[in-house]
Amino acid sequence: MLSEQSVREVLSTVTYPGFTKDIVTFGFVKKIEVNGDRVYVELDITSSAPEVAQQLRDEITKKLELKGAKEVIVTIHQPKMPRETSSRGKNLAPQIQNFVMISSGKGGVGKSTTTVNLAIATAMQGKRVGILDADVYGPNIPRMMGILGVQPEVVGNKVKPIETKYGVEVMSMGVLLEEGQSLIWRGAMIMKAVEQFLRDILWSDLDVLFIDMPPGTGDAQLTLAQSVPVTAGVTVTTPQLVSLDDSRRSLDMFKKLHIPIAGLIENMSGFICPSCGTESDIFGKGTAHDVALEYGTSVLGQIPIEPAIREGGDEGKPVVYYHPESETAKRYHQAANKLWHFIEKVNEEGGASNEMIQPTTPPGVSACSTGTSSHNHNHGGGCGCSH
Ligand SMILES: Nc1ncnc2c1ncn2[C@@H]1O[C@H](COP(=O)(O)OP(=O)(O)OP(=O)(O)O)[C@@H](O)[C@H]1O
Ligand SMILES: [Mg+2]
Repeated sequence: MLSEQSVREVLSTVTYPGFTKDIVTFGFVKKIEVNGDRVYVELDITSSAPEVAQQLRDEITKKLELKGAKEVIVTIHQPKMPRETSSRGKNLAPQIQNFVMISSGKGGVGKSTTTVNLAIATAMQGKRVGILDADVYGPNIPRMMGILGVQPEVVGNKVKPIETKYGVEVMSMGVLLEEGQSLIWRGAMIMKAVEQFLRDILWSDLDVLFIDMPPGTGDAQLTLAQSVPVTAGVTVTTPQLVSLDDSRRSLDMFKKLHIPIAGLIENMSGFICPSCGTESDIFGKGTAHDVALEYGTSVLGQIPIEPAIREGGDEGKPVVYYHPESETAKRYHQAANKLWHFIEKVNEEGGASNEMIQPTTPPGVSACSTGTSSHNHNHGGGCGCSH
């Protein structure tokens, strides 16, 4: 005899395609109705891929029929399919549709934590996602993604990004350096490294690449924006005024680089007590709103201080994946959702472009000349020089 309880037990043996956890644990099961040997199941999943829904429908139906159900109806709600990009300009990684730059004015405000959790939330919502850890000074993404010490596969003179169980592929300077090793970076080296990260890494066809930047507004940010059309800029700040002041620098940089501003993440915003769940102010809360208004943008999310976030970062167990029911995970999901809507809007309105910020060549010197030529007769094809 089938009951709601026995149906739920069956559903908890159905893993979400591409992940190791089941659909009950993920909180995707919204309704179960049992009427004799007829079962109705309603799911609300985060993937927009039709094949994911089909696979779930087939498996659920088969398993419930084995338990004696004669009729199984499975309704699955899904988000809309992602739209293609309409970006223009230079793109060193054209197989990637959209690029999101995660930036901040200050260090230590939670850029890497935000990158990891937004990227995983976006992957859980059915998009093909990658993370580029462009923080050459302190590459923390490998630890946070639980891939510390994993060596990437080299194919010819290119490197494959590391696949993770979160459905996100990752490349970081951290996996190419020995643990604890550090380099002294000069501007030209940073520019070269950023370009190589885009050109010489075998990124898959991705809907979106999240890029974790070093703090501040320097060479890495400029080179990145010149190398790919960045669809959306996200500024991470904490609620204290000192951090907010610095966040304006990051927002000004987006403006200068013609990067559409998706919004701010107010991180460490309030504290949720792990034992009683009460939310209280520690660093303050809600202060990013005014800065957002100043720049004609919005706050994508307020992420509270939560011990599970820090533990997740240290242990390589991102909160959005390991505590999907937590308030924090929900806020990351909402922020990822808002961000995706923003990306769609940018693409609908003509897409991002980096044509206006390409390096300019001084007059009379062709882009590939040795610098001695005084004329630049461009006869079409190549750059027009005689070398
Ligand atoms: N909301 C939060 N609650 C609790 N701990 C957090 C939260 N956000 C970040 N942390 C912790 O704060 C520390 C700094 O975060 P993170 O490394 O993401 O900052 P960052 O801006 O990338 O720093 P850097 O500028 O050095 O790259 C980490 O230990 C992280 O786990
Ligand atoms: Mg960081």
